[in-house]
Parts: sequence; C-alpha cells; structure tokens
Amino acid sequence: MGKNKNSQVSDDMAGQAAGAIGGLAVVFGILAAIKDKLGLSWPATVLLTAGTLVAIGYSAWRLRAAIVRLVAGEKLPAAALKQEAPAQSAQEGTETLVLPTAMGRLLQRLEVPVESVDSIPHPTGEGHMVRVAAPHTTAAVTRLREAIASELDVTQEEVNFAQVEGSIRNVRMLIGTPYTHIPELPDLVGLDLDADIPLGYDLWGNILTMPSPIGKHFLVAGETEGGKTSFLKFLAYLFLVAGGRLVIVDGKPDGDYADFREACDYYDNSLTHKGVMGALEYVREVAERRGRSKRDGSRPEPMLVIIDEILTFKEDPAEGRKFESALKLTASQVRSARILVACATQHPRDDVISTVIKNNLTVSVAFKVMSQAASRMILGTVPEGVNAELLPASARGTFIIKDPRGVREMRGLFITDDMIQQAVKARLDAVEPNEHAKAVLAAYGSAEFLTTEELAQALRGCGYEIPDGAQPMGVAVRDVIVKGFGAAPDVVQGGPASARRKGRRKADLLALLART
Ligand SMILES: Nc1ncnc2c1ncn2[C@@H]1O[C@H](COP(=O)(O)OP(=O)(O)OP(=O)(O)O)[C@@H](O)[C@H]1O
Ligand SMILES: [Mg+2]
Repeated sequence: MGKNKNSQVSDDMAGQAAGAIGGLAVVFGILAAIKDKLGLSWPATVLLTAGTLVAIGYSAWRLRAAIVRLVAGEKLPAAALKQEAPAQSAQEGTETLVLPTAMGRLLQRLEVPVESVDSIPHPTGEGHMVRVAAPHTTAAVTRLREAIASELDVTQEEVNFAQVEGSIRNVRMLIGTPYTHIPELPDLVGLDLDADIPLGYDLWGNILTMPSPIGKHFLVAGETEGGKTSFLKFLAYLFLVAGGRLVIVDGKPDGDYADFREACDYYDNSLTHKGVMGALEYVREVAERRGRSKRDGSRPEPMLVIIDEILTFKEDPAEGRKFESALKLTASQVRSARILVACATQHPRDDVISTVIKNNLTVSVAFKVMSQAASRMILGTVPEGVNAELLPASARGTFIIKDPRGVREMRGLFITDDMIQQAVKARLDAVEPNEHAKAVLAAYGSAEFLTTEELAQALRGCGYEIPDGAQPMGVAVRDVIVKGFGAAPDVVQGGPASARRKGRRKADLLALLART
C-alpha cells in the first residue's frame, strides 16, 4: 500500500532481471551437460537456450496476467462472481477504456465515467455489472435511469439497479421486469434476532438482510397497497419464530393482524385513542419491569411493538399530540429493554410524519410514493438517484430501507396467512398448560365462547367446588382461571345476538397462556 508505483516497477524489473540470469544459467547448464548426448553444436546449444528462455518468459507473463485478473475478479462480491459471464470479462480493455459490450458503449456515450461493464446472467432480463471509475460513485450511473431508458427505448421501470454491498463503485443493472426471480424463504430455524435478519431479496433473487433490529425503531411509509402491512407481518413472523414477544395496535378496521392475536402479549384493534395509549403504557411497564430485573443478569426476549396506521391516532389534534408524546417517551424508554417500535402510515406528509416521529423512528422503510418530496419525507437525506417514487409499481412489496448499513432497495419476503397461523399455533403448543388450565380448555371443547354459568357447570363436572349464586359462582370460576392462566381475561358479552350473556372467550384465555 505505502509503496509508490515507480519503486514497484523497478522492483519488478530487478526481480525479472535476476530471474532471467538465473534461468539462463540453469537452462544453459542443462543443455551443455546433455549437448553431446543430443549431438548439438555449441552455437545450436546457445540458440536453443535463448529460445527456451524466451518461451519461459512469455509463459510467465501470461501466467502473471492471468493471476492479476483472478485477483481483480475476487474483489467482486461472491454473488456477482457466480453470475459473471466468463467470455465477456475482457479486462484487457480497462487500460484503453474501449468497452466491449453494447451497454458499455451506451454508458460511455452518456458520459458515465465507467471503468468496466460486464454482462451477468439474469433469468428473465439482461444483466450488467457496471464499475465506475474512481473517484466517482454508482450515483454517476443510477441518476441516468431516464436517459438510459430513453436510449434503449424501454420504460424507466425496466431500468433497475442493485447495489453491490460494501461497494460504492460497483452496481448491478437489470434491463427488464424487476423482481421476477423470487427466492425461497431462508431457513429460519435458530434465527437469532441479535444477529442479521433476512428481510427481502434483490433483482437477482439474492436474499438481503439487515443488522439486528434490536435497539432500533422503524418508520414504514408509502402509498396504499404498497406492502407496509405485509412487511410488518413478516417482521412479526420473524419475532414469533425466534421466540420474541409481540404487541400489535392495528389502527385499521380490516383485521389485518388478527391471525397474530393469540400470540400477542397485547393486541388492540379498537381504533381508539384509549387503545393505543393503553398499549404504549403497557409497553413502558414491561420495560420498567425488565429494567428492575436486569440486575439478575437475564436477557429478556426481544419485543416488537407494531402501530399500523398512525394517522388513526392523530386525526384528533389534541389526542394526536398526546399520542406523539407517549410515543416519544415510549421509544426512548424501552430501547434498552430490547423493545422496538414500528409505526406505519400511508400518509407521507409532514403533519403525519412529524419531527417527533422522524427523530424517534430512525430506521426508515419507504414503499412506493407519488413524489420525490414524499420519498424525502420518509427517507431523509439519501444518495442521489435514490427515490421511492421510482420503485416499480409492478412489484408490490418493494421498498427502500435506510438503516445503519446504508440505503438499499429490495422486495420484501412474503409470507402466507397459513404460515402465520402455523407459527402462532407452534407458539401456543409450546406452552404446556397446568391442570387447571387443561380443565378450563377441556370445558370449552370446540366452543369459542362460554358463559360463566356454562363454565361453572363444566368445572363442577371435573370435581371443582363451585357454589351457586351469581356472585360466589363468578368468584370461584375466576379463581380457577387465574390458577390456570396466571390472570383472568375480562368478562365480555357473547353468545347468539338474541340472547347475549356474560362470559369469556377461549381466544383470550389462549392469549394469556401464550404470554406465560
Ligand atoms: N413482498 C411482497 N411480495 C408480493 N406481494 C406483496 C408483497 N408485499 C405486499 N404484497 C401484495 O400487496 C398487497 C398489499 O399489501 P399490504 O396490505 O401490505 O399494503 P399496505 O401498504 O399495508 O396497504 P395499506 O396502506 O392500504 O394498508 C398484499 O395483499 C399482497 O398481495
Ligand atoms: Mg396496511
């Protein structure tokens, strides 16, 4: 590194001269020794020696050039290397900058400071690995999306870029429909939330990760149907399979997160100010409890707190201000308790994504938006050419994430409702109910709701002493439930609409079980 180029060259020459003299002596010696056997004259021996030496020198030069190429190639990331087309490498061209591919020439025509352009295979499109010359960065290419599209007579959506991780000068470019290559979900057995977690995939179908989410908070924003909820559901799924806890406040009426309900420590879909404030208070209490028990050296399970569609809680200005200060307080108090908050909105405006939201939720995830201003609102400062307005409309679930690792585009990994249900079931099955809980669950059988009286009757059949009379019966039933589940869910109205009666839901009992 510290050596300058001249001293490197003279070192090379000295080495080569020494090698040449040594080589000459050896070859001459060998030929002299066997010259009589071969019947050669002295001049023929000398000529043969010189010829052999030239041949050895030429082979050594070819070998050296090959090694240099190999070493230069190894600097490319593994994924790119695998996909590189061997015949197109043509590295000899780098010095003269005559680029062999049509794309190389096109970029040169557009005055991109390219160093090399190599074709790389793609299952459905045309792939290129572009290396820009120092001191330029990949922005020199990515900002020319429109110009490249127009030169090629394709839409901008068919001109796609994928950053090469760890490199500011290499960028992969795909001409064709983006995100057609969907990889299999990686194996999540043994997933560690304190290490990198998988989140999405690039244009080539390579899985992309982010550093451990613990200690961070997320802002997820973009147009409707962009994939925000799907992204958060995937994150919740990761927490579920990795043994994390879940708190979900769903501020939309469609019940998008209903499948997670039984596995949540706290779930609210009431769409009310009271609901969201209750959840935030609960989370701060958990953090406080965790803080107190920290001294015993235990490390609590990570907890993900989802608040989807924050506008619901900001529509009323006075309530909105209270919500924001509660969110700010929560975000700052719970981080060290391994609790992270993720808020979503489909309204990337400055009244929704306020300074409080931006300052406290520092990992930003932008789905497709309608303007560069909206993109900036979500992502803040990003390298030139990065714009969520340009995300492909054809591939839902594509986003730009800005986290401590940088800014990159990917399409989110997608999970089905079946997978969520299975993960929730696995979580519930992992908890072995005690005898009291077993008795209560047996009483429910396949029923979703039982009145207090129906439950009392069933428990009597199992040998529990449950007195008559509404008041003592209610107390005795509650007592069995607390022994079984650690707490008793609220009594709610249930049963057929014509005859609503007070009782408890099995789902609420199961949710309690999942929390213990
Ligand atoms: N990563 C993905 N891969 C494939 N399809 C996806 C992906 N993400 C989302 N989708 C599709 O897009 C649809 C809309 O996604 P989602 O409901 O998550 O959007 P949203 O941004 O939450 O919308 P809204 O703002 O209306 O709540 C999903 O039903 C799904 O079919
Ligand atoms: Mg949504």
